[in-house]
Amino acid sequence: MRIGMLTGGGDAPGLNPAIKGLVYRGSELGLQVIGLLDGWRSLVNPVPEVLPLDREMVRRWDRDGGTNLGSSRTNPFKQVGAQGEVHDRSQEVVDNIERLKLEALVVCGGEDTMGVGAKLAQRGIRIVGVPKTIDKDLAGTDYTLGFDTALRNVSEVIERSRTPAGSHGWVQIVEVMGRHAGHLALWSGVAGQAHLILIPEHPFRYERVFHLLRSRLGDSDLSRGPSLRPRYSVIVVAEGARAEDGEMVTIDDRHDAFGHVRLGGIGEVLARRIAAETPYEARAVILGHPQRGGPPSPIDRIMGMLFGARAAEAVAANEFGKMVSARGVAPACELSLVDISTVLGTINVVDVDRYYDKDRYHLKSIGM
Ligand code: F6P
Repeated sequence: MRIGMLTGGGDAPGLNPAIKGLVYRGSELGLQVIGLLDGWRSLVNPVPEVLPLDREMVRRWDRDGGTNLGSSRTNPFKQVGAQGEVHDRSQEVVDNIERLKLEALVVCGGEDTMGVGAKLAQRGIRIVGVPKTIDKDLAGTDYTLGFDTALRNVSEVIERSRTPAGSHGWVQIVEVMGRHAGHLALWSGVAGQAHLILIPEHPFRYERVFHLLRSRLGDSDLSRGPSLRPRYSVIVVAEGARAEDGEMVTIDDRHDAFGHVRLGGIGEVLARRIAAETPYEARAVILGHPQRGGPPSPIDRIMGMLFGARAAEAVAANEFGKMVSARGVAPACELSLVDISTVLGTINVVDVDRYYDKDRYHLKSIGM
C-alpha cells in the first residue's frame, strides 16, 4: 500500500525516529511511504513536494532532532490570502492525495494537525495520527513526542542559571514554553530545582511571590557580604502563566492559521515587578525555540520508533480515523489507538489538586 507521511506544527525531537519507525515496520508490512514536505503545506501546493522514503534513506534519522520532512503551521481549511481574505483549500489536499495515489496518510503533530486530520477523515481520507508536542497537552495520550527532550533541555538551562544568579545575588526568572499547559514548566522546575514554579493552571499572586522570595532571601541588602542565607532564587514561569488580576502576556496580537497568538513576556513583566517592589535584582530569560532543539533523548528515540511502528500496524490493519496513544510511563507503556477526534476541543493540563502546591508555588510534597 502506498501511503503519505507528514509532520505538522512546531518541530519536536522524536519526529525523525517516528518516521524511521513507520518506514521500517511499514516495509515489513508492505507499505511504501512517501514523505510530504513541510506539513499540510505540501498538499495545498499545486505540485506537492514529496520525498519517497525507504529503509536506506531513514536509517540514521533516529539520531536527528527536528523533522527531516520539514514542518509548517499551514491549515488547509484556513489559508489567508494577500488581502487577508480566507480560503478553504481542503479540496486541493483531497485532490493531491488522489494525484499522488496515496491510499492513507500518517500525520505526526499536535491538536492542530490532528484537527485537520479529523476533518479530512470525515471526507473519507484514511488517516492515522502520531502525537507530538513538547507541551504534552494532547488529550487521549500520556506521552507526546518531544516532551522528554524539552524537559532535559530546560532542566539543564535552569541548572546553569544558578551560578550567575548566585554570584550576583539575582532572582533569575526562566520562561519556558507550553502554551496553556504547565507540564514542561512544572517538571523541568522540579528537575532543575527551581525555587518557585508558576503555571497557567493556577494564576499566581504577586504578593505571594514576593513573600516567598523574602522568606528565602530575607529583607537584607544583598551586597552586605557573605551569609549562610541563599543569595539567589530561580523562578520558572510558563509562558502561559498569568497573575490572578492579569492577562496572559503575548508577543504581539497576530494569530496563526489555527487562531493561536504567540505567548511570551510574562518573565520580563515579573522581573520588573520584583525589581520595583522588593529589594532584589531580577533577570528574565525567555528560552524560546532551542527548548525544542537538539537530538532526541533516549525516551524520544524509543517512543518515536514505537509510535511510528504502531502507526504502520494501524494502517496495515485498516484502522483509520485513529491516533496512536500511550498509557503509562514511557517507554514501557501500553500503546493503543484512540479516535482521532478525542484530541479536539480539549487539552491535557496539569492536575493542580494532585500535583501543585498552591501556597508554595511548587510541586506538592517536595518540601521546597
Ligand atoms: O506547541 C509547541 C510550542 O513550542 C509551544 O510551546 C509554543 O507556545 C509554540 O509552539 C511556539 O510557536 P512557534 O513554534 O510557532 O513559534
